[in-house]
Amino acid sequence: MVAQRVDLRSDTVTKPTERMRDAMANAEVDDDVLGHDPTAACLEREMAKIMGKEAALFVPSGTMANLICVLTHCQIRGSEVILGDYSHIHIYENGGISTIGGVHPRTVKNNEDGTMDIDQIEEAIRDPSFEICYPTTRLICLENSHAHSGGRCLSAEYTDKVGELAKKYGLKLHIDGARIFNASAALGVPVHRLVQAADSVTACLSKGLGAPVGTVIAGSKTFIAKAKILRKTLGGGMRQVGVLCAAALVALEENVGKLEGDHKKAKVLAAGINNIKGLKVDLLSVETNIVYVDILKESGVTEDELIKNLEIHGVLAMTEGPCKIRLVIHHQISERDVQYTISCIQKIVSGLPDKNGAN
Ligand SMILES: Cc1ncc(COP(=O)(O)O)c(C=O)c1O
Repeated sequence: MVAQRVDLRSDTVTKPTERMRDAMANAEVDDDVLGHDPTAACLEREMAKIMGKEAALFVPSGTMANLICVLTHCQIRGSEVILGDYSHIHIYENGGISTIGGVHPRTVKNNEDGTMDIDQIEEAIRDPSFEICYPTTRLICLENSHAHSGGRCLSAEYTDKVGELAKKYGLKLHIDGARIFNASAALGVPVHRLVQAADSVTACLSKGLGAPVGTVIAGSKTFIAKAKILRKTLGGGMRQVGVLCAAALVALEENVGKLEGDHKKAKVLAAGINNIKGLKVDLLSVETNIVYVDILKESGVTEDELIKNLEIHGVLAMTEGPCKIRLVIHHQISERDVQYTISCIQKIVSGLPDKNGAN
């Protein structure tokens, strides 16, 4: 029997709260493919307002949301999108924009803070006078917070600059805002300001916000009308979807205010682990709820051994490639869970004394 169970694999592992389950059970619903589900309409209105856009659309997942947005912006064959070489769309979404949408990706190096250099983005824009050979650049994608860089945030000023560049060349700007609420809480800037320059934005409800299912796309009325057709094409049109949207509305009420606390816990976890000999966390990179831990040789453990041993203590984590693990804080992780996790890792890692000489 483990003393405690602490699930740090992702912020997608949360269980619906009692209030969410009640709201789901009592949700007022109708057929949303026919456009008549009142709870879905309510969530979409609320999300459009939060994101400062004309309209919004509930879709099953962040992956489908990004796919719909890229394909809606790139309806002409031979379109190219500029995106980060470590962006979620490029690495983790099965290449859907090309396999399903026929859209060509052009990557620009993601810096450690999740940005791409503006001059490199500009260089990547194709010269239309050579369209006989080149694909046509139509879209730039940003990701905020940037998952692969440890959940680091893009400032409103940076996003504005990319937006200005996009305008200068007649391109559209999409933001993968799977964790845009985390970025907003960390920067102290409202979501609508962070995405002001974007033509489309996605926000996942089932990550830091803790809803069981769903992502919302926001944009102009015309954009959302086109996106709705594509959602149906991809099989994402759902009938009595108000059952899911009801939980998401509760998530907005219950959990947005908890994100700042999640980020504080992530910093405590990061500092505690960084204090253990043989492990290293780049403390500056911990801006939101994701903690990447580098496992050094002197720790005496591999990433798989660390994960397996943590599981024996009831702590769940994920590997993030060789010599690296990932821990993610969410609203169902307490301060006590954080301290318990640090003490378990300390025990596992060779019983070595910490960097202050204590054991
Ligand atoms: C930055 C980012 N975008 C998009 C997604 C895709 O979301 P989903 O898992 O809902 O498809 C994820 C998932 O973790 C993500 O981290």
